[in-house]
Amino acid sequence: MMNTQPLFQPFTLNNGVEIKNRLAVAPMTHFASNDDGTASEEELHFISNRAADIGLFIAAATLVADGGKAFAGQPEACGEKDLDGLRKLAESLKNQGAKAILQIHHGGKLAIAELNTADKIAPSADEATGSREVTPVEIENLINAFANATDLAIQAGFDGVEIHGANGYLIQQFFSGHSNRRTDEWGGSVENRLKFPMAVVDAVVEVREKHARPDFIVGYRFSPEEPEELGITMADTFALIDALVAKPLQYLHVSLWDFHKNARRGADTNRTRMELIHERIGGKLPLIGVGNLLSAEQIVNAFNTGWAEFIALGKAVMINPTIGTLLKNGETDKIITALDPEKMDHYGIPSRLWSFCVAGGAWLPPVKGKDWQPVDL
Ligand SMILES: Cc1cc2nc3c(=O)[nH]c(=O)nc-3n(C[C@H](O)[C@H](O)[C@H](O)COP(=O)(O)O)c2cc1C
Repeated sequence: MMNTQPLFQPFTLNNGVEIKNRLAVAPMTHFASNDDGTASEEELHFISNRAADIGLFIAAATLVADGGKAFAGQPEACGEKDLDGLRKLAESLKNQGAKAILQIHHGGKLAIAELNTADKIAPSADEATGSREVTPVEIENLINAFANATDLAIQAGFDGVEIHGANGYLIQQFFSGHSNRRTDEWGGSVENRLKFPMAVVDAVVEVREKHARPDFIVGYRFSPEEPEELGITMADTFALIDALVAKPLQYLHVSLWDFHKNARRGADTNRTRMELIHERIGGKLPLIGVGNLLSAEQIVNAFNTGWAEFIALGKAVMINPTIGTLLKNGETDKIITALDPEKMDHYGIPSRLWSFCVAGGAWLPPVKGKDWQPVDL
């Protein structure tokens, strides 16, 4: 029988906080918050039974400022009005025994105009998405917005925040030579492209210091490569990692659709991104790995590579709400790898997300009786 117990060793972060096991729930946008970004019953129901026997539960990408909303029904951490709902989310996750981490996000050029009042902005003007170049004053406001969201997360009782520097959104846009073509101090060289991500990290850490909360966890998520000619390469990502490990962070989280995918360029393309990233970090911070790990065997094998201190699960948690407990108890034969479209009530997936799932998509869980190919990025 497969041994799932290695996943259940605790890990102590560099700020002394113990995470009870090596499982993380990957952040998952649920398209279910109220229109004003406050938490809804549907969203609370979705997370109500998915955090048992999970170490870190990273809640959905949560908007930090008007202008950056990128999903209908996206949660917000913009102001006082959001506190009540954020408290309910944190409380639910903590009551289930997980560390509650809020992912803080701004969509930049991927924001949806109709969902925002403020202009669509990006590091550089982008005709394809109708975004204008953000001004230096607005850049300072954006950094402050990430700090403000962190303040709200602390007030709401979250155990930490994860800075969303991945999946092509604002922070990644600043780091990308493809999206960022600025000629001022915020663009150009790798050092300049790192300025915005690092300013966000510093601002978030400062809020933790202001609250005298060294136990508050700060993580950073990044996407290691972009396909575009001037986009992020593994070599860029190594520079990002070097800058991040010098900061007082608690973990790094790579965003991948396939845990085992090899590097595309800028490093040895015969080796996996996971292995290369883990090697570069060199034990200075723990790494969360992720990507199409659906069966117990895939999850255990990924952990046993030694390339990640934590394994995050997204789709597997949608399909198996109690996967943490099933893995802990060795009930691996009960873990299923496709949604049954007849069983909406069983899963408790919010209705809009459920309709996306049933229609099918590479980024969504496989559905019984339907062909499915994972995202290949
Ligand atoms: C429904 C859904 C919503 C997602 N929303 C987010 C998000 O809010 N923030 C984020 O960083 N990644 C998001 N992702 C990506 C996941 O965190 C994860 O990296 C990806 O699904 C691959 O892991 P998996 O194969 O275990 O699902 C989302 C994925 C899914 C399926």
